[in-house]
Amino acid sequence: MKNTVVTFKEAKAKGEKLTMLTAYDYTTAKLIEEAGINAILVGDSLGMVMLGYEDTLSVTMEDMIHHSAAVSRGLKNTLLITDMPFMSYQTSVYDAVVNAGRLVKEGHAQAVKLEGGKEVCEHIRAIVKASIPVCGHIGLTPQSVNAFGGFKVQGKGVEAAQRLLDEARAIEEAGAFAVVLECVPKALADKITQSVSIPTIGIGAGAGCDGQVLVYQDMLAMYQDMAPKFVKQFAQVGKQMTAAFADYKKEVSDGTFPAMEHSFKMDEEILGRLY
Ligand code: KIV
Repeated sequence: MKNTVVTFKEAKAKGEKLTMLTAYDYTTAKLIEEAGINAILVGDSLGMVMLGYEDTLSVTMEDMIHHSAAVSRGLKNTLLITDMPFMSYQTSVYDAVVNAGRLVKEGHAQAVKLEGGKEVCEHIRAIVKASIPVCGHIGLTPQSVNAFGGFKVQGKGVEAAQRLLDEARAIEEAGAFAVVLECVPKALADKITQSVSIPTIGIGAGAGCDGQVLVYQDMLAMYQDMAPKFVKQFAQVGKQMTAAFADYKKEVSDGTFPAMEHSFKMDEEILGRLY
């Protein structure tokens, strides 16, 4: 079944949980699609897990377009959402529409995601008006890491919690089709989920959200620079990869790889004619 923004709306109405994972390349996108995940997010987390930056701030539009286009070539039925990178929309409503358009035209995204609350509602409204679906993102918004003073849980006090609830309502009102809640207390995420008609997609926001998203290198235990409390490691792929790389090194060193079945044969008679 093809997943679209309509699927998202229907899933919330039916009480069916939505699943989203990040991907940044063709091969991983195909594997995720085979698993029947509803949506792939080409997150600007690619700055950290693919490009090795300390945060997401250095990611460019060209990075996002390049990876989004690669992912799109692996998908048929999975909704493709691509992140708007830092400073591709904060600068003006005009920039927001132009850059969202580039992610669709050049990156083949079917929707875009941007971070922030009331300050980006005008931008969301304008992008939606250009017929591009928008997913909001509130709570711990990594593009604001310097303003937050680090990667910290958000919305713990009354004022901060009320602000997040108001932001979710404002994002819904601006026309977003979904909103990501990152690193907020479960009870607050539950309250937000019950207070808006668009699906909430949680990451570190508890089981009450309408859906969940994880960075695939985190859930496969491939990325070791950070270990957030909200990540469950569904497989030890990182360890399996290192073990396979080490086996390869050993077999090349001791001559057991390549074996005859990995080699191409040649007619002995032709070989005999060489001088
Ligand atoms: O960039 C990203 O991968 C994200 C998710 C963590 C929600 O925004």
